[in-house]
Amino acid sequence: MAADEPHDHDHDRPAPAPLWHGRFATGPSESLWEYTVSLPFDRRLAPFDLAASAVHVRGLGDAAILSDEEVESLLRALDVVGREIEEGAFGFEPTDEDIHTAIERRVTEIAGDAGARVHTGRSRNDQVATAFRLFCKQAAFDVAVALVGLCDVLLTRAVDAGEAYLPGYTHLQQAQPVLLAHHWLAHFWAFSRDLDRVLATRERLDVSPLGAGALAGSSLPLDPAVAARRMGFSAVFDNSLDAVSDRDFAAELLFDLVMVGVHLSRIGEEIVVWSTSEFGFVRLDERYSTGSSMLPQKKNPDIAELARGKAGRLIGNLTGLLATLKALPLSYNRDLQEDKEPVFDALDQITRGISAVAGMVSTLTTDLDAMASSADNPVAGATDLAELLVRRGIPFRQAHAIVGDLVRRHLDGEEDLVALVRAEPRLGEEGAALLAPGMAVRQRRTPGGGGPGPVSEQRRAAAERLRSDRERVEALAGTALPPAGD
Ligand code: ARG
Repeated sequence: MAADEPHDHDHDRPAPAPLWHGRFATGPSESLWEYTVSLPFDRRLAPFDLAASAVHVRGLGDAAILSDEEVESLLRALDVVGREIEEGAFGFEPTDEDIHTAIERRVTEIAGDAGARVHTGRSRNDQVATAFRLFCKQAAFDVAVALVGLCDVLLTRAVDAGEAYLPGYTHLQQAQPVLLAHHWLAHFWAFSRDLDRVLATRERLDVSPLGAGALAGSSLPLDPAVAARRMGFSAVFDNSLDAVSDRDFAAELLFDLVMVGVHLSRIGEEIVVWSTSEFGFVRLDERYSTGSSMLPQKKNPDIAELARGKAGRLIGNLTGLLATLKALPLSYNRDLQEDKEPVFDALDQITRGISAVAGMVSTLTTDLDAMASSADNPVAGATDLAELLVRRGIPFRQAHAIVGDLVRRHLDGEEDLVALVRAEPRLGEEGAALLAPGMAVRQRRTPGGGGPGPVSEQRRAAAERLRSDRERVEALAGTALPPAGD
């Protein structure tokens, strides 16, 4: 069959598509169908469409457009469809353009004439936006749960790390030693902000578009506010054009997911570096690393690398969606069908990524001696020497130059730094003592800093933050879909 032959080849005359068979004499071409169909990916919206459809049916009952019997029979049909889909027993037809069409088709098969009334006062435009918002609410919740788990892993590592320390880096050059706990907690706070962002986005997107119709509402006595409440939305749209056409909620959630991906990528990069034989700071658990097909000695940090690599694709999802939305005239345009795959993909990648990275981080072993001996390089105390001079009344810029000069002479091979410091009258024995192993990290005393004092305070704050994050997430459990029978 030629590429552009009509889709339905069982009939002499191509069958018109079921949704618009009045207006069209012939059916769609094969190529139109293949290009425009969204069922392969939007079938995961099924539970959300079913919930919204049930609420819509009840609204039609309230408006006396459906009789009580019709309402009952449609609600039962929706239940049956839900079970069929859940059990994998739902028979999709080649004419099902998307999950919404498929559900309506099957409901009509089951409920007969009443099924032909289910789409009254509704368009796929508000229907799709509604199902997708419900999906995003659930997705935000699921990601928040996963993030609580990851934050828990990082906090546990921070607690277990005690007073172990390692070099802190800027420009990936050793800068000042910090507690290992401080390092784990830096990632903790980033993911905790991600969690906060996801919950804030969830709150903003919690608005029902159902009742906006194709773009302008309806002549029928439907009540969008009642439908919104029944679906568990906390608000209802103010403007029908806006309700069916904007996908800022999807872009926003996608950004939040991508930000998680970027944070996973950063931690991934560190694990890659830390697990090299040159650094040797961590050893990955065998369950969270891979081997080489050729090199028998290899143990590779593939999770960490994919956390890094997948960030590229996630960023692509976000820029792709933003580019799709840009310059779309009001209101619905078919371009908007492109909103789902980037969100679905990001959600899947992020949930798997969080789980894999959490597993990798919770099971890796740290080599505290390697970290400490790397951090105990006396030059790491250079700033402390300059600050000792400051306490002795020397302006910092001058102090910086005095210490810099000693470091340069040491690196030029003149003598070791401790001896040079001892010989410098403005530093002397007290200066030399600052360069002793383990001293530098203890000098980081200011709030939020990397030494033992502020870090133990930080551990308390992180534990408190995790407790309240957990509570916020638990309070949302089961809120994405409307409670049955409400
Ligand atoms: N699957 C489509 C979407 O996700 C359904 C909407 C089609 N609507 C229309 N007016 N052609 O956007």
